[in-house]
Amino acid sequence: MLSTRFFVLSLMAAALLTGAQAQAQSAARPQVRLPSGAVRSVILNNCVSCHGIDDYAFHALDRDGWQAILDGPHKQQRGVTLAATDEALLLDYLTDKFGPESVPFPRDYVAPEIADFFSNADARVFLQRTCAECHEIRVFEHRKDANGWRALVLDMRERGARLSDQNVEKLVEWLARARGINPVE
Ligand code: HEC
Ligand code: HEC
Repeated sequence: MLSTRFFVLSLMAAALLTGAQAQAQSAARPQVRLPSGAVRSVILNNCVSCHGIDDYAFHALDRDGWQAILDGPHKQQRGVTLAATDEALLLDYLTDKFGPESVPFPRDYVAPEIADFFSNADARVFLQRTCAECHEIRVFEHRKDANGWRALVLDMRERGARLSDQNVEKLVEWLARARGINPVE
């Protein structure tokens, strides 16, 4: 079954991505954890039969934007309808987690493999040179996993930070090590 295969592939990708080395070997993919609480079963009952939940992270939309995704490709074209209370819960979750303030995951970026790694001292020098051009070094206020850091660093590059793909990956690898999060469920 297609969805099962997708799920297994996602698990394999997730396992791969936990290795600092492995993260650089394939196209970067967002990883979204199933939320807890009431919305969890709304998603499990309505949203995972055709595709996984990782792709939500490609979007950073307000409530109307999310409503349009639920309406167009889903309700109108494929008859995916939700009870009103479930839809409200889902829209709350989507707008909160993937709202206009969030950084959408870059769709086409392919992370290159890296062979050398930053020490703490190297990383600080690099941050000072690359980031302090625009604002103080802000990474010590945050913790993120590698995908979260990659999305942020690529967003900074789009705003004008000067980094090669190699340096993006070196920085992401260091940030996930020094300013990472423990996987929690
Ligand atoms: C009947 C199958 C089906 C179900 C069930 C379904 N989707 Fe989709 N979804 C699709 C298809 C097909 C696309 C690609 C649509 C397109 O590009 O026109 C899609 C695309 C998306 C996208 C955009 C993905 C991207 O790469 O940009 C999001 C976000 C999304 N769905 C969320 C949801 C949510 C939330 C639910 C639960 C309410 C859901 N889907 C349930 C079939 C489904
Ligand atoms: C060319 C200018 C520029 C450079 C260089 C730059 N940034 Fe930014 N950064 C911005 C702008 C613009 C914002 C958004 C407005 C703001 O918060 O000041 C921002 C915001 C941020 C935020 C806050 C985002 C949030 O969601 O809280 C962080 C963290 C950050 N930058 C980290 C970095 C890091 C790390 C680097 C170096 C790799 C970097 N920036 C390099 C311009 C830049």
